[in-house]
Amino acid sequence: MCLGELLPEGVEQLVLAFCARKEQLSGPILELGMGTGKVALQIFLMLRVDVLGLELAPSRYALAAAALHKLAQTSERFQVQDRGDEASELLDRQHNVRCEFRCASLLDTPEDMMQKASAVVMEVCLPLEVQRQASKRLQSCRRGCRVVSYSALHGLVEDCRLAPVDASGTDRLGDGRGGICLAASWKPMGHGFAFYEMAGTAADAAVAWVEAEKTRCEGAIQIDVTGCPSRARRLRYTDEVLADPVLSQYPWKAGDRILVGYSWLPFPDLGDPDDGSAGGLDGVTWMPAFVVSVFDDNFVNVCYEDDGTVEERVHPDRIRVPGKPRKVRTDQAANAVT
Ligand SMILES: C[S@@+](CC[C@H](N)C(=O)[O-])C[C@H]1O[C@@H](n2cnc3c(N)ncnc32)[C@H](O)[C@@H]1O
Repeated sequence: MCLGELLPEGVEQLVLAFCARKEQLSGPILELGMGTGKVALQIFLMLRVDVLGLELAPSRYALAAAALHKLAQTSERFQVQDRGDEASELLDRQHNVRCEFRCASLLDTPEDMMQKASAVVMEVCLPLEVQRQASKRLQSCRRGCRVVSYSALHGLVEDCRLAPVDASGTDRLGDGRGGICLAASWKPMGHGFAFYEMAGTAADAAVAWVEAEKTRCEGAIQIDVTGCPSRARRLRYTDEVLADPVLSQYPWKAGDRILVGYSWLPFPDLGDPDDGSAGGLDGVTWMPAFVVSVFDDNFVNVCYEDDGTVEERVHPDRIRVPGKPRKVRTDQAANAVT
């Protein structure tokens, strides 16, 4: 199990919330940040609709693709096809629907899939800037598309059409104020997620928010961003002791595999992964990750391989290239890896 995932009963609650509407669901369901694909596959098998799942971490995408292959072995009903290293598709011949998994950033979701989607799942902890960019992309979803998200995404961009789902007459649709409780691994009783429906226009969405505020306030669901375990919050190294990296040069780029060091103590130099200090009380733990992006000032967004959590703005002096010892320099860029 990954550290933060929807439980199967949480996915059932979500499926009911997607389906509680006058019209039938039409159009694919997108899971952006699908991890090992469990949620996407459960939705695919329950609803028999097209599903597209995207995952940034190659190791987790590989597990998701392997699950499609395994399912295809269980019955002739399913047929699987790989498209290079980065996409796999499962066809359900009986119902003529497809479940496609891609190794990609949610920010690269194809525009036409966004436009066609009947629902979008984003159970993923994102840096604020990525939340903004994700919210911007969601604006191309059509009216009526439902969106469930770990973070509150409404109001982050101009002319936002994310509106609260009208929950009148049913308890399946959350609190009617933009929140829904779903069973999650870190909170089986139900974690508060944001739950939206795309309005026709930003003005319609604004009216819906005003109406929602008026109707119910007891039992309002808190969109809780503190519960999901995040490597970034648990293991924040005291970066203050490290030198300003802006003038240094580092050899990594987006997509590269790296090791990220962490220590409880504020060492000005974390040493190297094979120093023999790993795991010690005062030692340094080196965690496999890959580079998501590098800022102009050399800070790095990383994604950890084991649980897929993203840590923002990691100081580059905490990063090493596996199997490549540093050439430690004595000038200002003392820790730079060249
Ligand atoms: C908390 S896990 C949730 C997995 C799945 N939704 C579940 O409930 O089991 C979030 C996943 O989102 C992925 N992720 C983080 N940022 C992403 C991005 N920008 N694009 C695609 N996936 C991303 C992480 O690698 C991680 O596997």
